[in-house]
Amino acid sequence: MKLILLGAPGAGKGTQAEIVSRKLSIPTISTGNILREAIKNGTETGLKAKGFMDKGELVPDEVVVAMVKERLAEPDCQHGYILDGFPRTVAQAEALDQIAHIDVALNIDTPDDIIIDRLSGRRVCAECGGTYHTSLLKEDKCPACGGAVYQRDDDKPETVTNRLAVYQEKTAPLIDYYQKKGILSTADCRGTIEENYRAVKAALEAKKQ
Ligand code: AP5
Repeated sequence: MKLILLGAPGAGKGTQAEIVSRKLSIPTISTGNILREAIKNGTETGLKAKGFMDKGELVPDEVVVAMVKERLAEPDCQHGYILDGFPRTVAQAEALDQIAHIDVALNIDTPDDIIIDRLSGRRVCAECGGTYHTSLLKEDKCPACGGAVYQRDDDKPETVTNRLAVYQEKTAPLIDYYQKKGILSTADCRGTIEENYRAVKAALEAKKQ
């Protein structure tokens, strides 16, 4: 299955992608994670992306499209994948149409008040990259590997406000884009992680019929 996860920042795309990836044995391609890794490694892509990401702006389409094209050509993507955080503009969606036949665009639908709580409470493990919410953490350590957890720079309140505005302007139109193509499905993701996975599974199954 070739799946796109749409949804606002903090809607829970990465959390659900991890579960679906395990269940379907297909890789998740998260453009946010690839860009953060590029910044950490000081690559040319990372240098181009950093200023945009720090402000909560989108990285230019040509940078992200080139990165995704390269990643989708790798052998582990040949039997399907989950795109988390791509496409994010109509231009990116059109570029994707040229290189892939997507089966489902799944909209992770979460109300704004819940999103703000999820983003302000998100902590990421510096060692293994695991993502958690403070409400589910007993201490400031990763429950999986014991590494220190930190708050992403773009989860600070002033940047979150801009990310949500950028989402409304540039990414929300993709809901209509994929609706018109007949491949949109929506999962109500205001519940717990397990409840949301059940909604995601039902939305995927509805599209298979
Ligand atoms: P990216 O990393 O893609 O960030 P995002 O879309 O803003 O999404 P997030 O990772 O913030 O949220 P998510 O929906 O995955 O939620 P999560 O599962 O973590 O992008 C970052 C930046 O990179 C962009 O701003 C842009 O600059 C750049 N970029 C990336 N892709 C690009 C592209 N295609 N084009 C241009 N620029 C691009 O959940 C959030 C929190 O909630 C976590 O703490 C999680 O543990 C918790 N949580 C999740 N579900 C639940 C639940 N049910 N109950 C309680 N807590 C929950």
